[in-house]
Amino acid sequence: MKKIIALTGAGISAESGISTFRDSDGLWKKYRFEEVASPMAWERDPELVLEFYNQRRKQLFEVEPNAGHDALVKLEDKYDVQIITQNVDDLHERAGSSNILHLHGELKKARSTADPNLVYELDHWELKMGDKCEKGSQLRPHVVWFGEMVPNIEPAMEISSQADIYLIIGTSLNVYPAAGLVDFAPARAPKYLIDPKANRTAGFSNVTIIEKKASEGVPELVDQLLKDA
Ligand code: OAD
Repeated sequence: MKKIIALTGAGISAESGISTFRDSDGLWKKYRFEEVASPMAWERDPELVLEFYNQRRKQLFEVEPNAGHDALVKLEDKYDVQIITQNVDDLHERAGSSNILHLHGELKKARSTADPNLVYELDHWELKMGDKCEKGSQLRPHVVWFGEMVPNIEPAMEISSQADIYLIIGTSLNVYPAAGLVDFAPARAPKYLIDPKANRTAGFSNVTIIEKKASEGVPELVDQLLKDA
């Protein structure tokens, strides 16, 4: 089976009702990321940081995967599909994709501030000051903040280098190291970029641009790839 890598970003979840970051109605237009998504913010005002992620988590419990997520599941009929997502939502999981690597963490998980190996599933939206790990330390969101390492970047590079076909869906490719992953794909691997504002193709070889929303562009491309398989 050929291997398809799909690097996804906030745009694939936009039509489920989750805001992107850098579009005109994006989260980073309403909040300064330094104040809600950085180690300094956590030090200065942990309640504000928890509240920011609580609101994101609350919303996540209210939305559903869309046709873009669903189509990537269908692709598994004929391909070995690996998703590398920058998203902290669980919509790829809920759609039913089998192989998902989260680069920037997971909203429905919390982590000990004392021991990063202690990670807990959250079945409710609210994480509060006073919620502690088994060692008695405060829990924090299990997300990667600005200025923090991206622990899954090495496996993501390795997976990217094995691509026969590379899909890039709904990401502005503004944030490194995630944005550099496409460069690890073999030059011979065809690349498809799906984004209604797909203007960031500089440097990609062998790329087809599909200027459509994910709910339309991904199912169309998946149908074509299934026919070609
Ligand atoms: P951005 O908000 O930077 O980019 C979203 C992209 O999705 C843009 O290129 C949009 O044109 C596109 N888009 C919007 N609606 C779409 C739709 N319906 N279908 C397909 N594409 C659509 O989001 P990301 O690139 O994911 O990191 O942002 C990367 C990282 O920056 C995030 O993971 C987050 C953020 O800071 C952290 O918080 C660490």
